[in-house]
Amino acid sequence: MLAEHPDQRAELVGDRSLIPNAIEELLRYEAPSPVQARYMARHVEHHGQTVREGSVMVLLNGSANRDDRRFPDGDRFDIHREIGQHLSFGYGIHFCLGAALARLEGRVALDEVLRRFPEWEVDWDNAKMARTSTVRGWESLPVRTP
Ligand code: HEM
Repeated sequence: MLAEHPDQRAELVGDRSLIPNAIEELLRYEAPSPVQARYMARHVEHHGQTVREGSVMVLLNGSANRDDRRFPDGDRFDIHREIGQHLSFGYGIHFCLGAALARLEGRVALDEVLRRFPEWEVDWDNAKMARTSTVRGWESLPVRTP
């Protein structure tokens, strides 16, 4: 994302206090766990539709993260966005137990990467997505630094 938005990357290099909100925007925009699922223990009504007991409901939290009703112009990546709460760590009783650790790791990693490599370009020809049923991210993302 930052290679595609070098202006925002340069802002982060110049002002590290922007990193925590940038991590939240990265989590919102590219949800690492974009789909959750629930087994229905009883019939429930949603938007006038009944979801039957015993069926499976798939929750598209990656899509909800871009819902314009909640995040104006949701397809725009903006490290200055006022985010409030995104759904990348889930919601409710199963909210991610590791969210605080994951946020901290993200902030430290981004800070260190920007310190050593303030600029890079992605070698898209050799980038490879990881394919799993629940997690979305890069298995391999080679970059070129100047
Ligand atoms: C960027 C990193 C991470 C993301 C995006 C993420 C995302 C999520 C999401 C969406 C859920 C909710 C699943 C659901 O509702 O079905 C969840 C649950 C959970 N996460 Fe994470 N997670 C991350 C890192 C971590 C880490 C580092 C740990 C542990 C050190 C962790 C431990 C857990 C556990 C134990 C649950 C289950 C909570 C429950 O069912 O009550 N996660 N995570």
